[in-house]
Amino acid sequence: MEKKFKRTTITSALPYANGPVHIGHLAGVYVPADIYARYLRLKKEEVVFIGGSDEHGVPITIRAKKEGVTPQDIVDRFHTLIKNAFEKFGISFDIYSRTTSQTHRELASEIFRTIYDKGGFIEQSTEQYYDDEAHQFLADRYITGECPHCHSEGAYGDQCEKCGTSLSPTDLINPKSAISGSAPVMKETKHWYLPLDRHEAWLRQWVLEDHKEWRPNVYGQCKSWLDMGLQPRAVSRDLDWGIPVPVEEAEGKVLYVWFDAPIGYISNTKELYPDSWEKWWKDPESRLVHFIGKDNIVFHCIVFPAMLKAEGSYILPDNVPGNEFLNLEGDKISTSRNWAVWLHEYLEDFPGKQDVLRYVLTANAPETKDNDFTWKDFQARNNNELVAIYGNFVNRAMVLATKYFDGKVPVAGELTDYDKETLSAFDGVKSEVERLLDVFKFREAQKEAMNLARIGNKYLADTEPWKLAKTDMERVATILNISLQLAANLAIAFEPFLPFSSQKLRDMLNMKSFDWAQLGQTGLLPAGHLLNKAELLFEKIEDNAIEAQVQKLLDTKKANREANQKAAPVRENIGFDDFLKLDIRVGTVLECQKVPKADKLLQFKIDDGLETRTIVSGIAQYYKPEDLAGKQVCFIANLAPRKLKGILSEGMILSAENNDGTLAVIMPEKTVKPGSEVK
Ligand code: MF3
Ligand code: ZN
Repeated sequence: MEKKFKRTTITSALPYANGPVHIGHLAGVYVPADIYARYLRLKKEEVVFIGGSDEHGVPITIRAKKEGVTPQDIVDRFHTLIKNAFEKFGISFDIYSRTTSQTHRELASEIFRTIYDKGGFIEQSTEQYYDDEAHQFLADRYITGECPHCHSEGAYGDQCEKCGTSLSPTDLINPKSAISGSAPVMKETKHWYLPLDRHEAWLRQWVLEDHKEWRPNVYGQCKSWLDMGLQPRAVSRDLDWGIPVPVEEAEGKVLYVWFDAPIGYISNTKELYPDSWEKWWKDPESRLVHFIGKDNIVFHCIVFPAMLKAEGSYILPDNVPGNEFLNLEGDKISTSRNWAVWLHEYLEDFPGKQDVLRYVLTANAPETKDNDFTWKDFQARNNNELVAIYGNFVNRAMVLATKYFDGKVPVAGELTDYDKETLSAFDGVKSEVERLLDVFKFREAQKEAMNLARIGNKYLADTEPWKLAKTDMERVATILNISLQLAANLAIAFEPFLPFSSQKLRDMLNMKSFDWAQLGQTGLLPAGHLLNKAELLFEKIEDNAIEAQVQKLLDTKKANREANQKAAPVRENIGFDDFLKLDIRVGTVLECQKVPKADKLLQFKIDDGLETRTIVSGIAQYYKPEDLAGKQVCFIANLAPRKLKGILSEGMILSAENNDGTLAVIMPEKTVKPGSEVK
């Protein structure tokens, strides 16, 4: 059942303003959303494209705390950085605002209040971890402890990052508050919940029956949520960063970030069109489309629609093109591990090459499955496709027209069969690209546009007008006329995908009017039309530029490995009594020799102040026996003796372990009496 819509409201997930954005964001959300917005605008449809920063949530407060600044400082910094990066990549938002705006605070409160007044929430008291020293409830991320699955330390209350298991705070063994370090206590707190179970029936019908056309990954995720049965979800938090819950007895509580953030789409529309925003959100003839990554599916397909329905006056999304993830060189992109290509860094390293990245990200778009970005592929797609096909074709057509016809579009003569065959390639391009864009298949749509360039390239290679120039100028005129028409088509077809190059090409072709309806036409440039100077659309990317990027990633890997070793988690606290159990002393090395048939071990004779004791130590890879003879070392004197390679070792020599695994023996800073205690 095709519905006829009057206008389209396009939203793209609001990125958290607690870090810069990377290619994964661009590939998964912003480039596809931008392609779609540009396409609809080119079709002269009524469209609004909404973006903005998501500026609430616990991670922002954690980052602020870590840096000793306010959450507002953090979001101010990253909002600006992100906004600029999007602008430079030509993401053509009609507005890019933020969820700390006044308009947003008001609207989010208003929507909460409307649902509240209608009885659309339930109140529930639960026990939650509370930090008695810091006097606050602890968000899941603020509680760390031992993972019940892999038993590594430092797992968070919502997830163990070592083994990836999702957790709830009460799963943690020996939980600790990340704020004061103390052990949290359970304390009762009241929150408001959106009873999703009440919405289950209509959601099932709406998603599973009425929206079978949604992408299989999106539909499938919704289905599995719905099949599991929906539970009430808390929409408030005990936190001091966010929008206060607009209810009297809610002091110290704010709206949960996932409650306020999607309302940001609406507030930003309101900020853009203070007088006419409602038609974009309330008129059933408006079509709402959410561009998101796969981790956001449940919020956009289930929770937000339930909120809107509970409020009562809003439309629901017509489609939610959710993407899978983009990996980087085979590994999951990760902000905390700095495993990413950051947009602001790309812009510095490849100035003016925004379209190249847009092209590669669309060519590898993770539309149906996770995909991989590699620098080799980036280079190959630039050099073998953008430069060798699209750029090369346009450049040859322009240069030849300049050379033989003084930069004017020549008059076409009689067409050969091959000409007609080439022209017929125009037929159907429009409807094919359109068909693909209408169902959000951006990757295939771009491929279709590139095929048009391929045809042009082949046409010139086959007809070789440069050879005919001496004998048959009339034929050359026809060939170039056809080529220039094709180039004009490319400028239109590529506009949604590669807007900067399209603009450049249109300038070269001196194309004034310009819209989607013209795509597929063969008379876009009339004979005699004056062209501008030819310029290269794309440039080859050399090996060294790629090697530098690969090296940067290798350096990141290395730094991560070192940091991992460095960050061996601090062990559980012990009392001073426990420490006193260790008898650490200084001894003087009387003799030192290698242990036969053991390449790691050295055998020491040590003067411990009372007698000579034997200690075996695994440091032979780092010290020669003569390096240590006569030196003073620290050792544990009361470690129960044990046999190593048949030698009874009476203690353990202390060394520090570097993050590369090498060892350095601990020595007193000045000579002391053998047997001196270390305390
Ligand atoms: N900030 C969220 C994320 O990056 C997305 C929020 S989308 C919105 O995953 F709908 F809440 F705005
Ligand atoms: Zn774990």
